[in-house]
Amino acid sequence: MNKVRVGIAGLGRLGKLHAENIAFKIPNAELTAACSIAPEELEYATEHFGVTDVYTDFYEMLDKADIDVVAVVTTSGEHCWQIKAALDAGKHVFCDKPLGVTVNECKTAEAAVERHPELTFFLGFMRRYDPSYAYAKKKIQEGAIGKPYMVKAAGIDPEALVEGAVKFAATSGGIFIDMAIHDIDLMRWLLESDPVEVYAAGATFKHPEFREAGDDETGAAMYKCENGALGFVHVGRTAAHGYHVETEIIGTEGSLRISPVPEKNLCMIYDENGAVTECVSGFAERFAEAYLLEMKEFINCVQSGTKPDVTVYDGTKSTQIGFATTEAWKKGCTAKIQY
Ligand SMILES: NC(=O)c1ccc[n+]([C@@H]2O[C@H](COP(=O)([O-])OP(=O)(O)OC[C@H]3O[C@@H](n4cnc5c(N)ncnc54)[C@H](O)[C@@H]3O)[C@@H](O)[C@H]2O)c1
Repeated sequence: MNKVRVGIAGLGRLGKLHAENIAFKIPNAELTAACSIAPEELEYATEHFGVTDVYTDFYEMLDKADIDVVAVVTTSGEHCWQIKAALDAGKHVFCDKPLGVTVNECKTAEAAVERHPELTFFLGFMRRYDPSYAYAKKKIQEGAIGKPYMVKAAGIDPEALVEGAVKFAATSGGIFIDMAIHDIDLMRWLLESDPVEVYAAGATFKHPEFREAGDDETGAAMYKCENGALGFVHVGRTAAHGYHVETEIIGTEGSLRISPVPEKNLCMIYDENGAVTECVSGFAERFAEAYLLEMKEFINCVQSGTKPDVTVYDGTKSTQIGFATTEAWKKGCTAKIQY
């Protein structure tokens, strides 16, 4: 196979970013088709990436486009049927997280992946490809902190974006489904054990609109894993300083912290405010390199026939854990996590 020919579905916030990477930054891939229900996104694909093979219907793209793979970056509720349809049409699939919005949907995606062992399926848990997280994983595997027994993860969106979060609060599935999935995946990946029990609670102090919509502005969840390790996940929407994603892994012989200060870069500004480090503004900036590296890895897997480390089962499990966390938060109780 020469260049891997990619058809992308969904050119919203994240789809545009993936499309840019595929079109301009991955030498062994080319963006040859695009599909969106929004005509302006197809115009964008033509204008910015020169893609003229465009579709408003996903099945039509599968049927007519000359593509090897499909990148699914549509609204989360569309992922699982598109994964199934694309694999059944003989296409390799990259799908952004979450795998699906219900566990049943995730199971249909699992079945499709199992039906097609000859095809590559890649789930976009891009934090695993971020150089700092990948380095932390390597240090843990080398024994640098002994046996890891606790992960403390924080994922807090900037206050600057809170208006959008308020708007979608009523339909987001709640703060844990909406926000915690990456932290849940990291916890499982770094501790190498699945949580079996969770307690969760929420709080709202600044924007009562979240409560009115049945959601919370901040969520905290504590997990007990099968091997006895602990996880603590803090999600929120009101970081004053920017986009705060921080993870601490504590082991018997030491600990690791990834971005305790979510620095924009290494430039320190000395002025009347003191010595100031600016912070990243959102996921696209913080994880720009991770989005590129995960897509490169997917394309390489397609060409070499190797299986990615992240699997469809990681997608189902994170969704199951997200729902159990939501149940614990809503009922104010401890919930068992069933797989
Ligand atoms: N990995 C991450 O950090 C990360 C960050 C943001 C978003 N996401 C995920 O990426 C996905 C897209 O998020 P977004 O923020 O770009 O959303 P978005 O709403 O900006 O874009 C999604 C686009 O999908 C298109 N679409 C919807 N249904 C379709 C269909 N049936 N066929 C073709 N196109 C369709 C819509 O036109 C829409 O513009 C979501 O699942 C989201 O959870 C992941």
